[in-house]
Amino acid sequence: MTTNVLNLSTYNFYINGEWKESQSGQTINIKSPYLNEVIGKVQAITKEEVDEAVHFAHESQKGWADTSLQERAKFLYKWADELVNMQNEIAEIIMKEVGKSLKDARNEVVRTADFIRYTVEEALHMHGESMKGDSFPGGSKSKIAIVEHVPLGVVLAIPPFNYPVNLAAAKLAPALISGNAVIFKPATQGAISGIKMIEALHKSGFPKGLVNIVTGRGSVIGDYLVEHKGINMISFTGGTNTGTHLAKKAGMIPLVLELGGKDPGIVREDADLQDAAKHIISGAFSYSGQRCTAIKRVLVHEKVADRLVEILNKEIQKLPVGSPEDGSTVVPLIDNESADFVQSLIDDALEKGATLITGNKRERNLIYPTLLDHVTKDMNVAWEEPFGPVLPVIRVTSDEEAINIANASEFGLQVSVFTKDINKAFAIVNKIETGTVQINGRTERGPDHFPFIGVKGSGMGAQGIRKSIESMTREKVTVLNLQ
Ligand code: G3H
Repeated sequence: MTTNVLNLSTYNFYINGEWKESQSGQTINIKSPYLNEVIGKVQAITKEEVDEAVHFAHESQKGWADTSLQERAKFLYKWADELVNMQNEIAEIIMKEVGKSLKDARNEVVRTADFIRYTVEEALHMHGESMKGDSFPGGSKSKIAIVEHVPLGVVLAIPPFNYPVNLAAAKLAPALISGNAVIFKPATQGAISGIKMIEALHKSGFPKGLVNIVTGRGSVIGDYLVEHKGINMISFTGGTNTGTHLAKKAGMIPLVLELGGKDPGIVREDADLQDAAKHIISGAFSYSGQRCTAIKRVLVHEKVADRLVEILNKEIQKLPVGSPEDGSTVVPLIDNESADFVQSLIDDALEKGATLITGNKRERNLIYPTLLDHVTKDMNVAWEEPFGPVLPVIRVTSDEEAINIANASEFGLQVSVFTKDINKAFAIVNKIETGTVQINGRTERGPDHFPFIGVKGSGMGAQGIRKSIESMTREKVTVLNLQ
C-alpha cells in the first residue's frame, strides 16, 4: 500500500499508481495567498520521471481502450463518489492554496463530481455513424463507411490555478471515458488541490499508470512535456501568453486552448439597471475577478451611465472583502505580482483621467474592489485582462460603438448584453466576435454541458462536456466494399 504524505506537508507525485518522491531530491514550496506562509511542498520532478510517466501512460492506455464504456463508467462514477466523500478535506486545501472561500471551494468539488457523472452519461449516449456511398462515381453504391470515435492516446491536461480541481477534472474525465490515458500537470499554485483530487481517483481503483500527476518547475518540465513525442493531445487552460507559446511548441498534435478574456457587459439604455448591476457585480468581483469569464469592462449607454455607476457603487459597498476563511467575495490575489499588475492598470487609468468611484486601496496582495468611470480607449485597463477586482466603465453613445469597442479587443471569450429588447440583443449577437453571448446574465462557463469557446486570443477549439469528449477522440473510418 503506497501512501502520499511524506510528512505533514510534503506531497509526492503520482506515477504508475504509486506516490513517489522525486529523484531530483527537490521540492517546490506552495505558499498560501492569504496566510502568507508555506502550506506544503510538492515534488520538482525530472525529465526522466516525465519520460517514465508518459511510458506508463501508454502501457496502461492500451488495455483501457479495450475495456467497454460501461466498465470505464464504473471507475468514473466511483471517482465522483470519492470526491463527494472528500469534499470537506479537498475544499479546505483549495481554500488555503488558492484563496477561494470555503463555500466556493466546496461548490467546486461538488460541481466536479456532477461534471464527471454527466461526462459518463454523455459518453454512454454518443455513437458513431454509418454512411452509404450513394451515387458517387466508381461503384460507390456498394460502399458503406462505418465511422467510429477512437481515443487519441495520452492526453496532457494542464489546468489553471483558479479551478485547480474542476478544470483539471474537466480535462481528465472526458479523456478517460473515451479511452485515453492522462498526464496531469497541475498549475504549481493549485498542485496540492490537484493531488488531493488524484487521491480520490486513486481510491477508485483505476488501472495503474492510466493517470499520472507530474509536478515540477515549468522551466524544467514545461516545454519538455509539451514537445514530448509521447503526448497525443493537449488540453490547456490558462493565460494567453502561455497558451500561444504552447501552441508554437506543440507542433502537429490536437490542441484545445482556453485562454484569457476581456468580457464586456454591454448595457443598453433600455436595460433593467438593477438587474444588470447584480449580474455585473457578480461577474466582475466573484473570487476577486480571477476568472477567465469575469466581466472585465462595462460598455454602457451614456444616457443611463450615471444611474448604473451609482447602483454598481452601492452594490460594491456590500461585497465582503478580506480572508476566504470569512467567506469573503473579494480575497487576496494569487500572488503579489498579480496585485502589482492590477495596481498598475488602476494607476495608469487614473493618470490618464479616469474617475475613481471606489477602491484603489491595497493591503499586500489584497486589492479592494475598484470601480473606474469615464475610462477611455487610451487606457490600458480598457484592453488588458486584470484577473483582479477592477471594473472599468466606458460610456458609449450607441450599440454600434459598444460593438466596435467589444470587437477591437484581442480577446473573444464571452459578452453580456443587458436589454429588454430581444431583437436589439440579437442584432448585437449577430455582429459580435465572441465564443458566447449571454443575454441578461453574467458571463460564465457553465452549465458545464454547454459548449465553451474562446475565439481570437481567448482560445482554440471547444470545451463543454460533449465538445471535450469529441476533442479527445478522432474519427476512424472503415469502408465495407460489398460484392
Ligand atoms: O477561469 C476560467 C473558467 O473557465 C471560468 O469558469 O465561468 O465557471 O467561473 P466559471
